[in-house]
Amino acid sequence: MRSALVVPAAGRGDRLGASRPKALVPLAGEPLLVHALRRAAASGVLDVVVVVAPAGACEEVRDVLAGLPLPDLRVVPGGAERQDSVRLGVAALPDDVDVVLVHDAARCLAPPALFELVVRTVRAGHPAVVPVLPVSDTVKRVAGDVVVETVDRSELVAVQTPQGFACAPLRAAHAAAGAATPATDDAGMLEALGHPVRTVPGDDRAFKVTRPLDLLLAGALLAAAAP
Ligand code: CTP
Ligand code: MG
Repeated sequence: MRSALVVPAAGRGDRLGASRPKALVPLAGEPLLVHALRRAAASGVLDVVVVVAPAGACEEVRDVLAGLPLPDLRVVPGGAERQDSVRLGVAALPDDVDVVLVHDAARCLAPPALFELVVRTVRAGHPAVVPVLPVSDTVKRVAGDVVVETVDRSELVAVQTPQGFACAPLRAAHAAAGAATPATDDAGMLEALGHPVRTVPGDDRAFKVTRPLDLLLAGALLAAAAP
């Protein structure tokens, strides 16, 4: 059986405010998507890659990825919400896949070792695996502009991608999920079906490029050769 990676890359990137879909925005001369997939490929643990491309950009995505060592690459167009895009990517997986990682193109500096750790943890018998980091800010619950309470931070973590899954429950979760409340992560869909979700240590470099400041940070990390 093979391990696969589904990369939702079809978002517009409204908060980044670039003139291109975020996955195709250049960072040090290459699209974010290329940085993300170079690191995924370097993990050596992924046999199949499905990229979920921005509408009308499937050919461009194939072109920019042509130089990377991705032996079984499939490119499909995305949907309106991230959850739709992941569902379309999962639907494009071949039948002989038993482990699936889902990874945001926008987390373009997630290191190869993190992909390897997540695949290994799924293969160790955990059907849903998420990388997590402690929350560094104090977190409060609010109602409008009034603080209701301070949440106990020691119980909270921030969740990253790549998230890893046994293929069957991930397919089932997407089949069961309604469009009414799209999930912001994939593990949440398995949680809703009662599956246990296992954490592994995340990595600072797996931060998501969301706003312009994040792109500056990513550029600075590359310039410092940190990733
Ligand atoms: N994504 C996707 N399809 C969508 C929306 C998002 O494939 N309809 C992908 C994005 O391309 C990104 C990942 O999901 O790699 C995480 O989403 P986010 O950071 O929110 O990206 P965008 O939706 O592009 O950004 P914004 O919300 O600022 O528009
Ligand atoms: Mg979004």
